[in-house]
Amino acid sequence: MRFSILSFGCQMNAADSLWLAQALTSMGWVESPREEAQVYILNTCSVREKPEQKVYTALGRLQQLNPDGFAAVGGCVSQQVGDGLLERFPFVRLVFGTDQVGAAPGALARLVEHPSLKISLLDFEERYPEREPAVTAAPGRPSAFVTIMQGCDNFCAYCIVPYTRGRQKSRDPGLVLDECRRLVAGGARELFLLGQNVNSYGLDASGAGVGFAELLRRVARTPGVERVRFTTSHPKDLDDATIRAMAEEPAVCPQLHLPMQAGSDAVLRRMGRVYNRTQYLDLAAKVQQARPGVALTTDIIVGFPGETEQDFQQTLEAVEQVGFEGSFSFCYSDRPGTAATALPDKVNREIQLDRLWRLQKLQDVLTRKVLEDQVGRETVLLLEGKSRKQDSEESFWRGRDPHGRVVNLALPPGKDGSGKLVKVKITHAKNHSLTGERIGELW
Ligand code: SAH
Ligand code: SF4
Ligand code: F3S
Repeated sequence: MRFSILSFGCQMNAADSLWLAQALTSMGWVESPREEAQVYILNTCSVREKPEQKVYTALGRLQQLNPDGFAAVGGCVSQQVGDGLLERFPFVRLVFGTDQVGAAPGALARLVEHPSLKISLLDFEERYPEREPAVTAAPGRPSAFVTIMQGCDNFCAYCIVPYTRGRQKSRDPGLVLDECRRLVAGGARELFLLGQNVNSYGLDASGAGVGFAELLRRVARTPGVERVRFTTSHPKDLDDATIRAMAEEPAVCPQLHLPMQAGSDAVLRRMGRVYNRTQYLDLAAKVQQARPGVALTTDIIVGFPGETEQDFQQTLEAVEQVGFEGSFSFCYSDRPGTAATALPDKVNREIQLDRLWRLQKLQDVLTRKVLEDQVGRETVLLLEGKSRKQDSEESFWRGRDPHGRVVNLALPPGKDGSGKLVKVKITHAKNHSLTGERIGELW
C-alpha cells in the first residue's frame, strides 16, 4: 500500500509520525506523494482552535483528491473528538488515540483486508505505551527524537493536553537509554528528549526512581552522543539538579525552552501555573548564571481571560528583562473542557491581535540583537542538510550551533556535509538565521 502522513502540532507528534512511517515501511508499505497515496494518516493537534480546524479542512481536501482512498486520524484531535470523526467523515476508517500509536499499523493492515471495517482505538494506558523499537534514526538526519514520557498532570487552566494525552507516564529509563544507543548506532549524533513536562520525569506512578537530571546525565554520557536537547520544561519543576547537569555535562546543549506564558502574577494565578513573575525571573537568571550564554526561549499566551493592558505590559517587561532569544506567542483560544473556558472577561480578538503584534515586534528586536552579537564568533555546527538556496559555484548547507540557532554555510560542490560537524566563524546575521564560513575540516 502507498501511504502519506500529515503531521500537525508539537515534536511529540513529529516523533510519532516518524515512528509510524518506519513501522509501515517495515510492513512493506511505501511512503508516497499525496496524489499517489491510497491511505492517509493524519497526526493531529488540538492545542488551539486553528490547528483543529486545519484537520477538518485537510480531511475534506483529501477525500476530494482521492475518493477511493481512506484516512486514519491519530493524535490529539482524535482523542478529543473520538468516534465523532468516523461519523462525520465516512472517509475516515480509523481513529487512534495518543496512547495507541503502536497499535495503528496493525489496525491499518486489517482495514486493508476488510474494506467495510472501521476501527476505533481510543483507550489510555496506565503505563507508558512502549512500542516496537524504531528501526534506525531517520536516514540522513543526524538529530533524533527520543520520547521519555507521555501525558501531563498539570491541568493549566487553558490547556487541553492533559485531556488529549492523558496522565503523565514516564518511560522506563533503561528502555530510554537502549533507544538512545540504538539511535546512535544508526547514525544519530544529537538526541532530543521529548515530553510535555520533562522536568517531572520519573515522579509519576510508572517512574522507576530515576529523576530527569539523572536521566539527562546518563543520556549525555552515552558514547557517540554529541549533543542533547530537551523540551518542554515547566518552571515549577526545573530543579537545581537539572540546572547543575546543564552546567556540567558538555553534551547538554546551552539551550532551554522555558514557557513563561505571562508576566503578570494575577494572570499566572488564573492560569494555574503555580509560579509567579519573580520566581520565573529568578529561575531564568539562575540558568543564565549556571550556563553563561544559554539560549532561552519561551511560550507566551496573550489575551488570557481578564488580561488587562497593565497585565500585558508586565509580560512585555518580563520578556525584555530575560531577553529571550526567541518566543512562540499565541492568542488565547477556548478549548473544550478546560477550566479557562468558564472564566469571565474574555479579551476580544482585536485586542488579542494587537497585543500579539506588539509582543512579536519586541521579540524581533531581541532576536535580532542576539543574532547580531554572534557575528565574528566561532562555533561548531551540526549539518542537517542542504539549504534551499544553491548556485553552481558552491553548495549551501544548513546546520545548527549548540544553542539551536540555524546557520547557513557554503561548502565546495560535491562535498557531502550530511550529519557532519564543522567549525565555523559567523559572518552575517539575518532576521532569523546566521551565515558562517568554514574554518576547519568536517568530522
Ligand atoms: N507542555 C508544554 C507545551 C504545551 S502546548 C508546556 O507546558 O509549556 C504549547 C503551548 O501552546 C503552550 O506553552 C501555550 O503557550 C500554548 N497554548 C496551550 N493552550 C493554549 C490555548 N488554549 N490558547 C492559546 N495558546 C495555548
Ligand atoms: Fe498544558 Fe500546562 Fe501540561 Fe504544559 S504543563 S501541557 S501547558 S497543562
Ligand atoms: Fe498539539 Fe497534542 Fe502536541 S494538542 S501541541 S499535538 S500534545
